[in-house]
Amino acid sequence: MTNLQFLRLERDDHVATLFLNRPKQLNALNMGLMDELVATLEELDRDDGVRAMVLTGNEKAFAAGADITEMADADATTMLLRDQFAKWNRIAKVKKPLIAAVSGFCLGGGCELAMHSDLMIASETAQFGQPEIKIGVMPGAGGTQRLTRAIGKVRAMEMVLTGKFISAQEAFQFGLVNRVVPVEVYLSEAQKLAREIAAMSPVAVRLAKEAVLKVYESFLLDGLEFERKNFYLLFATEDQKEGMAAFMEKRAPQFKGK
Ligand code: CAA
Repeated sequence: MTNLQFLRLERDDHVATLFLNRPKQLNALNMGLMDELVATLEELDRDDGVRAMVLTGNEKAFAAGADITEMADADATTMLLRDQFAKWNRIAKVKKPLIAAVSGFCLGGGCELAMHSDLMIASETAQFGQPEIKIGVMPGAGGTQRLTRAIGKVRAMEMVLTGKFISAQEAFQFGLVNRVVPVEVYLSEAQKLAREIAAMSPVAVRLAKEAVLKVYESFLLDGLEFERKNFYLLFATEDQKEGMAAFMEKRAPQFKGK
C-alpha cells in the first residue's frame, strides 16, 4: 500500500478498515483525500485477502462535506473542467461490500460518501445532512439521487431544500442506516458485521451485492433478469455445493471463494 497522507488503514484478517484522517478539518473531503480514497479502495478491492471493508472517520465527524476552501473561489468553468466528483463513481463500482461506520457530523459530501457504502452503522451521536443549500449550492456527489432513493422524496426534499440535519434515530426510522448503537461501539459493530459477511462465500457476496445495486441502475424487469442470471451462475461454484451440503448435513460450511 502506498504511503497514506489523508487516510489510515487497519487490517484484521479479511476485514480492512479505512479511517478518513483530517480530524482538524472534521474530515472535510479535499481532492487529495478523495484521490487517495478511490485508489486505496480499488487496491483493497483487488486484494484477494480482503473480503469486506469498513469506512469510518472519528467520533466527532465521519466527514463534514467536500472541502469548501478548495471550491469557494472557483468559477463554473473551473468546476466543470475539474469535474472533481466524477471519480466518486469509482467508489460505487467497488465490488466488495463496503460498510460505513458513522459518528458525529455526516454532512454534504460526507453524507454522500457514506451513501456510497452498502450498509451503514451509526452511533447515537451521528447527524446526517445535506447543508449545501446554506452555502448557496446543492448536493453535487449523488445526494439528490441517493438520499431520495433511500428515504423518499418528501424527506429528501426537506433536507436538501432546508439543509436541516437529521439525528441517527431519524436516519434509522427513514431507512438510511442499518442500526444505531452507542458511540463506544459503532466501529466495532461495523467491523463485526464486516466479519460476518466476510465469512460468507466471496463469490456469492459479490454477485449478490451487484444484483442489489442493479435496483439503482435499471428498471425492475432488467433487475429481476440480472438477479436470476447471477443466482443461476452461483451454481457453478464449489461454495454453493458446500453451502447447501453443509445445510443438509447440519454443519457449518467451509467457503473457499471458488
Ligand atoms: N470544508 C472545509 N473546512 C471545513 C468543512 C468543510 N466542509 N467543515 C468544517 N471545516 C473546518 C472548519 O473551517 C474549521 O476549520 P478552522 O478550525 O481552521 O476554522 C474546522 O473544520 C472545525 O469546524 P468548525 O469550527 O466549523 O466546527 P463546529 O463544531 O463549530 O461546526 C459544522 C461543525 C456544523 C460541521 C461546520 O463546520 C459546518 O457547517 N461545516 C460545513 C458543512 C457543509 O456545508 N458541508 C457541505 C460542503 S459542500 C459539499 O459537500 C458539496 C457536495 O455535495 C460534495
